[in-house]
Amino acid sequence: MLLQLPDVLGPDALAHCSERLANADWADGRLTAGYQSAKAKDNLQLVERSPLARELGALVLDALGRHPSFFTAVLPRHIYPPLFNCYRGGGSFGTHVDNAVRYDHSGARAEPVRTDVSMTLFLSDPGSYDGGELLIEDTYGLQRVKLPAGHAVIYPGTSLHRVTPVTRGERLAAFTWIQSMIRDAGQRRLLFDLDVSIRLLTRDHPEHPALVNLTGSYHNLLRQWAEL
Ligand code: NI
Repeated sequence: MLLQLPDVLGPDALAHCSERLANADWADGRLTAGYQSAKAKDNLQLVERSPLARELGALVLDALGRHPSFFTAVLPRHIYPPLFNCYRGGGSFGTHVDNAVRYDHSGARAEPVRTDVSMTLFLSDPGSYDGGELLIEDTYGLQRVKLPAGHAVIYPGTSLHRVTPVTRGERLAAFTWIQSMIRDAGQRRLLFDLDVSIRLLTRDHPEHPALVNLTGSYHNLLRQWAEL
């Protein structure tokens, strides 16, 4: 499932990120790429676990946690600490699949994170740069994603994807991967659809007796499928 999450960051948080990233020490993005994706990658990245990456990463995690659709769409078990990248001067990232497992070194010991879901949060106004589209090959064909600043997209970690060259201006983004409690994308989708329907019914027919059963079915499916 490919889903846009509007307004993850508001204007104040965006302005703060832009100001902090304007003077950032960018490193070659290839330093953190796997063997195969390094050949396709031409961008800049904040050094992982640097003070600035930690500070802004905490801001992004907090915003995702408060977004009304993020939790229900992803059912996160472990979110990799967000990373930040910058594309400019023709920089791009050719077609690749992200590594299946990454190691989160932010705690006392490294913890594996299976990359079930990928997330990109756009930080630059799309009118301020040319190119820089995120192209995702999903089961519904090629999806072109270039969102307003502050909006995010989540998509299956299994997807082939790429970023087209940025030929004018600068494209800043945060990105991360999430291990979901629900490994199977089809099951995750079914739970999301059920949750959206329950919320609509709760809004329009809050007294309907079937709501209790439907909510019970949601939780019983989650109980059956969740890996914790
Ligand atoms: Ni990628």
